[in-house]
Amino acid sequence: MSTTFQIDTATSRANPTPAPLRRLTVPTIRARKRDGVTAEPVVMLTAYTARQAQLLDAHCDVLLVGDSLGQVIYGLPSTIPVTLAMMANHAAAVVRGSYHAVVTVDMPFGSYEQSPQQAFENATYLLKSSGAAAVKLEGGTAMAETVSFLTQRGIPVMGHVGLTPQAVNVLGGYMARGRSDAEAQKIVGDAKALDEAGAFAIVVEGVVEPIAIETTQAVSCLTIGIGGSAQCDGQVLVTEDMLGMFERVPRFVKRYDNIAEVIEGAVSRYAEDVRNRTFPGPEQTYQPK
Ligand code: KIV
Repeated sequence: MSTTFQIDTATSRANPTPAPLRRLTVPTIRARKRDGVTAEPVVMLTAYTARQAQLLDAHCDVLLVGDSLGQVIYGLPSTIPVTLAMMANHAAAVVRGSYHAVVTVDMPFGSYEQSPQQAFENATYLLKSSGAAAVKLEGGTAMAETVSFLTQRGIPVMGHVGLTPQAVNVLGGYMARGRSDAEAQKIVGDAKALDEAGAFAIVVEGVVEPIAIETTQAVSCLTIGIGGSAQCDGQVLVTEDMLGMFERVPRFVKRYDNIAEVIEGAVSRYAEDVRNRTFPGPEQTYQPK
């Protein structure tokens, strides 16, 4: 399958001409779960740049512009410092690079927790400035009123329960959740509250498998697992993690390749060519006619 759109000569490689194809919608994806059964699991990956979106788009139902870009792109220690402007810029790039998947953008820490009104103002900014179709926010019962406020005003919301990285300072780390009865009940209760509030999907992150399964069975909307269970209604991973870009990844990551090795190999060959003066060669240089 070609991974590049047909480029019309009037455009740069940053502005490819999209092949005509209809973009999936939130209702189409949401409708995959019927009477508690999802025949076709939802494929979701993170994307932060236009070219990355081009490569992932045809294979994914949802591209998530995750606030994990704080760590992955900006080298920050957590998602806490990520700003609305960062999210808006990367979401716009991902929308430009895709024409098929539903682009969902994370609301960063501090941009939605204060009130439904604050969340509405910042969610509309994200959607208007990027063209994304939905927002994702972390938290359960405490966010239910906000989720209802947004969805009733035209903003599709994906929730996020279990291990919620923006709450790292409260949780005390990134360990799996749902090991105690109290934690397990809270996760299922949070997911139910988001479902009733109108979330179209809920990310279930870092949750012991039986509770991820119970959560999936307890809600009518889709659950998207990451460190959850294959029985969730879909799966998501951070793309750089599954490609093998980083040495240290959470236990729930399956590495599908070793892109770091590929990059290092190519760069070391390039450096050798430059030092030996074998690059550029005749094919890469312009000669007088
Ligand atoms: O920020 C992110 O990338 C996420 C996914 C890991 C679910 O929230």
